[in-house]
Amino acid sequence: MSDILNHTEDGVTTLTINRPDKKNSFTAAMYATLADALAAAADDDAVRVVVIQGHETIFSAGNDIGDFLHAPPATPDAPVFRFLHGISGFPKPVVAAVCGPAVGIGTTLLFHCDLVYAGDNAAFSMPFVNLGLCPEAGSSLLVPRMMGYHRAAEALLLGDPFMAEAALEVGLVNRVVPPQEAGNLAQAQARKLAAKPLSALIETKRLMKQGQAAEVRQQMADEATSFGRMLREPAAREAFTAFMERRKPDFSKV
Ligand code: COA
Repeated sequence: MSDILNHTEDGVTTLTINRPDKKNSFTAAMYATLADALAAAADDDAVRVVVIQGHETIFSAGNDIGDFLHAPPATPDAPVFRFLHGISGFPKPVVAAVCGPAVGIGTTLLFHCDLVYAGDNAAFSMPFVNLGLCPEAGSSLLVPRMMGYHRAAEALLLGDPFMAEAALEVGLVNRVVPPQEAGNLAQAQARKLAAKPLSALIETKRLMKQGQAAEVRQQMADEATSFGRMLREPAAREAFTAFMERRKPDFSKV
């Protein structure tokens, strides 16, 4: 079965991250599938809303660490960057249902969604520093802006996880429900949106986003340059190797 399920019904395209044996971590192929699905959904008049979801126990463990080690994204048109541009510039509403861990890009992609519904087991984390990396997806701009600088520093410098209730408090999440209800709630909200005039949805989203769209693009470009370089540096190589070898990383020499 595919690692990304794509189903369209009643004007709603639902993209399900479906790689449970690897905790829904994203491979380059999965980013490519998502990027293509978003591009198709943007162009298809029959699609009014996109829902992104994982499973009741795991949203995503972030980027596949083996991919980071052996096939890091090398160019600005790498699948991960195509996906990030696709979601950050997606013209129609995007609704997310998040349960369980949402690590790295599993959290940062949510800053580009319009509505986020979380299971009460959701745990958000952006442990880029712990991996010898820097933030991506515009999160170095959007996290401090949404959460305030000091909470952002806990999340991005310390890499501390935060739970669904904290995400609700800072405004990253719209509502917290039992995990088995998050998917249905996201679908119900998506269907409400799909019944509204699409042109008004698109125009309203564009107007809400346009104030910071150029800034977000610039930040994502800066982050991508740093991220691409840091992926190949000793701190990240040690972090990835340690994860694969199931040991604690040793950063004493980096
Ligand atoms: N990349 C590749 N494989 C991953 C992965 C990732 N990001 N996250 C988990 N996996 C794999 C594990 O290697 C393991 O594979 P195996 O069964 O072949 O040994 C399997 O998924 C189960 O993972 P495990 O760590 O045993 O599950 P858990 O329930 O104890 O913990 C997480 C779940 C998400 C908390 C934990 O897997 C984790 O922290 N993953 C890494 C997250 C991360 O740093 N991502 C990068 C962000 S930039």
